[in-house]
Amino acid sequence: MKTIDELLAEGVKGKRVFVRADLNVPLAEGTITDDGRIRAVLPTIAKLAESGARVVVASHLGRPKGAPDPAFSLAPAAARLGVLLGAEVAFATDTVGSSAKETVGALTDGRVAVIENLRFNAGETSKDDAERGAFAEQLAELADLYVGDGFGAVHRKHASVFDLPGRLPHAAGYLIATEVGVLKKLTDEVKRPYVVVLGGAKVSDKLAVIDELLGKADRLLIGGGMAYTFLYAKGYEVGISLLQKDQVDVVKEYMARAEANGVELVLPVDILASAEFPDLKTKAPADFTVVDADGIPADKEGLDIGPKTRELYASKIADAETVFWNGPLGVFEHPDYAGGTRAIAQALVDSDAFTVVGGGDSAAAVRTLGFDENAFGHISTGGGASLEYLEGKTLPGLAALEG
Ligand code: 3PG
Repeated sequence: MKTIDELLAEGVKGKRVFVRADLNVPLAEGTITDDGRIRAVLPTIAKLAESGARVVVASHLGRPKGAPDPAFSLAPAAARLGVLLGAEVAFATDTVGSSAKETVGALTDGRVAVIENLRFNAGETSKDDAERGAFAEQLAELADLYVGDGFGAVHRKHASVFDLPGRLPHAAGYLIATEVGVLKKLTDEVKRPYVVVLGGAKVSDKLAVIDELLGKADRLLIGGGMAYTFLYAKGYEVGISLLQKDQVDVVKEYMARAEANGVELVLPVDILASAEFPDLKTKAPADFTVVDADGIPADKEGLDIGPKTRELYASKIADAETVFWNGPLGVFEHPDYAGGTRAIAQALVDSDAFTVVGGGDSAAAVRTLGFDENAFGHISTGGGASLEYLEGKTLPGLAALEG
């Protein structure tokens, strides 16, 4: 994979460089609530601008349906990028139309422009190679060189991620290089004990990675909504907790395989359970009780791991050499159910292990709970992307940069 430094050494002054970033940041009524992904791609954009390139930044945001939708405009992200760069950032109100052509045409050396959400064009995400290719052709007209740095989207076979690099001389940006370097430490060169903490709502999203980790990790600590499918598979009643009944047989097979492989698969021993889901807007105090994991009342749902589980999981992390954590352990957006997620974050901070936080939700949780990002080995900007890498899959956006 060619690096951005090699590209810079060849000279980028006066060249239009298309930077495929992942500016898919969370927004609340048009305001960015976590700008981590924008900050993560700054070194690449700043270096190109400093080197005299005319930088064209492109990204997706959310999942609009292949047509313009103001709710998914990249305008707030472009404005934030300007603030973080300390420079004016031009904004094109379309992707490959007259605004994009004019905005890019008006760029002078060292200046930066952002074009509108790539997913406003159906060609970006199309399953049809020709439709994607046609959009990639149009994007290629906006640039002379391509830098792939949208790590969070490298698992997507999308026009700007997969098809465009084949049409322009290309290189990987600093963020992709860092992310891949870290993931290599979790796969090829892992130091043991290797502990993986998996949370999040749905077990179905994590099946493939659990499957792979049963041959790689020493310990798997399970929390979040997905834990209830495991507890149910163990024969416990889970009340009205999140449960994926269609996954119970798969989960049973995983539990058996973990035992056969000597992988410690650890489940919650106590739970914060409530008859109602908390109000995340008002954050009004929640009404919950702490119950044993095998004693969730029929009319209650589990919303966080309990105090004994927090201690247990922290002790399982304490002697680790490597820790990968993906997915919140409870409904951390409400202060009464943030304790489990906070305890895991704290255990990572306290450990001497190489710690990696993967995934938009866990990364946002770490920041919103007030942890110092530098206290972790690495906070990945890619949720799905880092999981698919750990699953051993070929990621289209990385494969395209190899070519
Ligand atoms: C993410 O948020 O994980 C990336 O930006 C990819 O977004 P997507 O899942 O909508 O493709």
